[in-house]
Amino acid sequence: MCGIVGAIAEKNIVPVLLDGLFSLEYRGYDSAGLVITSNGLQRLRTAGRVAELEKKVAEQKTNGFAGIAHTRWATHGEPSERNAHPHLSSRESKIAVVHNGIIENHEIMRKRLQNEGFQFDSDTDTEVIAHLIAFNLRKSDSLLKAVSQSISELQGAYAIAVIEESHPERIVVARNGAPLLLGLGEDGNYAASDASALLKTTRNMVYLEDGDIAELYKDHYAVYECKNGILGPEINRPVHQSDLTSDAIDLGPYDHFMQKEIFEQPGAVANTLEMVLNAQAISPGLFGSAAEKIFSQTKGLLILACGTSYHAGLVARYWLETIAGLPCTVEIASEYRYRNPIADAHTLVVGISQSGETADTLAAMSYAKTLGHLHNLAICNVAESALIRQTDLRFLTRAGPEIGVASTKAFTTQLASLLLLTTVLAKMRNKLPPEKEASVIAALRHLPAALQSTLQIEPEVQEWSQRFSEKRHALFLGRGVHYPIAMEGALKLKEISYIHAEAYASGELKHGPLALVDKEMPVVAIAPNDQLLSKLKSNLQEVHARGGELYVFADADTQIEESDQIHVIRLAEHAGILSPILHTIPLQLLAYHVALVKGTDVDKPRNLAKAVTVE
Ligand code: F6R
Repeated sequence: MCGIVGAIAEKNIVPVLLDGLFSLEYRGYDSAGLVITSNGLQRLRTAGRVAELEKKVAEQKTNGFAGIAHTRWATHGEPSERNAHPHLSSRESKIAVVHNGIIENHEIMRKRLQNEGFQFDSDTDTEVIAHLIAFNLRKSDSLLKAVSQSISELQGAYAIAVIEESHPERIVVARNGAPLLLGLGEDGNYAASDASALLKTTRNMVYLEDGDIAELYKDHYAVYECKNGILGPEINRPVHQSDLTSDAIDLGPYDHFMQKEIFEQPGAVANTLEMVLNAQAISPGLFGSAAEKIFSQTKGLLILACGTSYHAGLVARYWLETIAGLPCTVEIASEYRYRNPIADAHTLVVGISQSGETADTLAAMSYAKTLGHLHNLAICNVAESALIRQTDLRFLTRAGPEIGVASTKAFTTQLASLLLLTTVLAKMRNKLPPEKEASVIAALRHLPAALQSTLQIEPEVQEWSQRFSEKRHALFLGRGVHYPIAMEGALKLKEISYIHAEAYASGELKHGPLALVDKEMPVVAIAPNDQLLSKLKSNLQEVHARGGELYVFADADTQIEESDQIHVIRLAEHAGILSPILHTIPLQLLAYHVALVKGTDVDKPRNLAKAVTVE
């Protein structure tokens, strides 16, 4: 949450900062600001979106050769111009700081610095960093040392960029628990929260590690290790060529990133499964070189995740139990980390995360390790993320950058990966004879095409959207492996259209929620033609008999009669094992089109941000 950009070059860097902020807006979008070193530190800040900041920059014709910038998702202090970054300390040396993350000991530090005479102008934890660095600068001969000293006094997870009025020729950045990378350009050096922010300027990236601190000048840079406030020797971090293309982060012909990402799903899944689609057999090596050994000892799985990724885990539980015969528990990471669960050394812990940055998932994964789980695996969409770095095994979903705040292609690629994992484990446990393995591979091979044809139902879904947009509540029903898909459908609808939506396992209806059903409560049902269909149909009758209006997503061969109160959209095919993946598509489209009718900000729903890097 929150996006940082820094730039120092031989050219006016304001366009780079603004471009970077636009790319990082998915990380937070309630206020934005920048500081440029040009006749002192020039600061511009706005409440609201980066576009507001851009207007201000244009009005004031701001330009300069060095600067830091920020787009915010408020944690401490309301979203307002006063709380927007950069924050300054002006008492002695004038410095400016941008920050992503949370400083946990900010209250105590604030008091200490107030006692030293520093005056606070905002409610943020970030301002503590600015004053602390200024305070330590009194005793240091360089900003680098003052920053090293300061970060040793701060508790929490953060990435920061700092600039000093009296030394406009350098920027200092530091990382501890929040992402930060350097971009090495031909005419300058840059820093950002993620590579997408710098792609228009450079593809040469240096990913900083936790505990790294770096100094950027226009023509050189240096990275140092920093432990307990002591600045270590300069270290060599490898330079990576980013293979992201700017297409991946441009809207192209689409109106919204969510729409683009929904329609990218066939390609995203094909990329994720690339190694498998041409293979005759699926091997454990797909999950890392140690996977075969670890999987051979695996007696069960514990899946930890949040939000949409948690729903992917819930689907996987059905597969793992049914196909691989392995016990599987799925837990919301923020709950798991504060329980006292009983660990089993050979229960493999699987963290699922699009961003690989979700604070609760990271903490839950570490906690599981301390409890005695021997091995862990990440299923993640970001190669350089903290989650990928901290796990023994990993599988990268290759969905490409997901920018819309509501997760879509990350979910379906997670499901495809989890089906692969299930297949590998089943095979190693002799639960999957070769002909069955061949049929799973064939199904996976067909998945991109099946997704493509499922997307064709968009116009039919769109027809329903007007009616939904007039409602205040909706109920989503599913059974078995499709119950988590109903949960995902409800989450999508509520987060982007602000319609209250709840998902129930349809067998639970008569245990309470049926009381809510009337003509004002649309009931969405996922009705694949599987062994639970007859049970589901009885549940739907219960709704119908009470005047509820049903919106059913069925398979091509599901026998369900349409009527005034029962509307049915049929998916092009009956997908068997892949059914939950295909049934996700109409629910994403429904949420998207309802949000369009309601005129909400589809890609940046209120109060949310893409990567939830705080607790
Ligand atoms: C919903 C959504 C969130 C995320 C959740 C976990 O559309 O995107 O619920 O799924 O915040 O994020 P990751 O997967 O990055 O750990």
